[in-house]
Amino acid sequence: MFKNYSLKNYNSFRVNHKANFFLKIENNKSLINFLSDKKFKNEKKLIIGGGSNILFTKDYEGVILYSCIKGIHILEENDNHIKVKVGSGENWDDFVKFCVTKNWYGIENLSLIPGSVGAAPIQNIGAYGVEIKDYIYDVNGIDLKNNIKKTYSNKSCNFEYRDSIFKRELKNNFFVTEVTFVLMKNKKFTLDYSELKNINSQGLTIQNIRDKIIEIRNSKLPDPKLLANAGSFFKNPVINIKIAKKIKEKYNDFKYYQINESMVKISAAWLIEKSGWKGHKEKNIGVYNKHALVLVNYSSENGKDIKILSKKIKESVLEKFNVTLEKEVNVF
Ligand code: EPU
Repeated sequence: MFKNYSLKNYNSFRVNHKANFFLKIENNKSLINFLSDKKFKNEKKLIIGGGSNILFTKDYEGVILYSCIKGIHILEENDNHIKVKVGSGENWDDFVKFCVTKNWYGIENLSLIPGSVGAAPIQNIGAYGVEIKDYIYDVNGIDLKNNIKKTYSNKSCNFEYRDSIFKRELKNNFFVTEVTFVLMKNKKFTLDYSELKNINSQGLTIQNIRDKIIEIRNSKLPDPKLLANAGSFFKNPVINIKIAKKIKEKYNDFKYYQINESMVKISAAWLIEKSGWKGHKEKNIGVYNKHALVLVNYSSENGKDIKILSKKIKESVLEKFNVTLEKEVNVF
């Protein structure tokens, strides 16, 4: 247990707030031991993964729990599928890379997403036409309210776009210890996303897909190791088609994707760009110049600055387009 611990190396925005207490969890037992320790019973608790989807705006007055649970174990295997249980503290992209070398198909489009395996189900990570919900078998963890081990089947995770039971009803009360995935052993790629449509599918390997995804991501998203950021700051809004049609009347390049009869999904990056924020810089923070959905931190130590900028962006998009942006990043 660390006291007054700097979070700078545990959040990809690299802001320098502190936690009163910080505990690295190596296995189920160490978490249960901690939870039964009366000294910390009344302390607030916050679970973090790779810290790549979080913005701290002040010191955390409580205990931060950080998973270091490792391991990739095959549970079942047949000619078509493989079931693997993975420790929540494994790095997400290391796991994807491992699956690619084994020719286990399914999650290669999710290459290079920063963060940990345990965080993947929380916000149902997704990219380039794939969402992790389609490959999760179950999520194992410990309920912090009663210290009981529990397994959530895929169905009971209530996955939605960038959302799950862990982000809603169980918010910050369920510590993920392992995630079980079912991957395919037969070649099957998801190439529907616009930038993947032109790929020549003849002789294509899983490694080719991973390389292509890495190339696309690197061309428009900043590497958090080089420029601090937390990926998309906002979700892509789902709005009524009537509002979308009104925007379309004014802007020819505006696109929307039908979700159901009355609702459409639109690009938050487009809204932010059209509101004039792309490449914006103020003090030591800003909006990335190649992707308007990504807020970047050049050198601020204080997450409040980023929160204030995000509010200004939200207000200006609302004023210009009458669309409310919802945060994707968790703000504390
Ligand atoms: N666009 C702009 N301006 C920009 C960038 C994009 O107008 O500066 C427009 C373009 O029309 C583009 C469209 O937005 O065609 C979509 O852009 P992109 O393909 O980059 O995807 P996105 O909708 O902005 C989402 C995810 C990303 C994920 C990509 C690829 C959300 C909130 N974000 O972004 O996820 O990598 O799709 O699938 O759903 C993340 O969650 O942190 C993240 C990076």
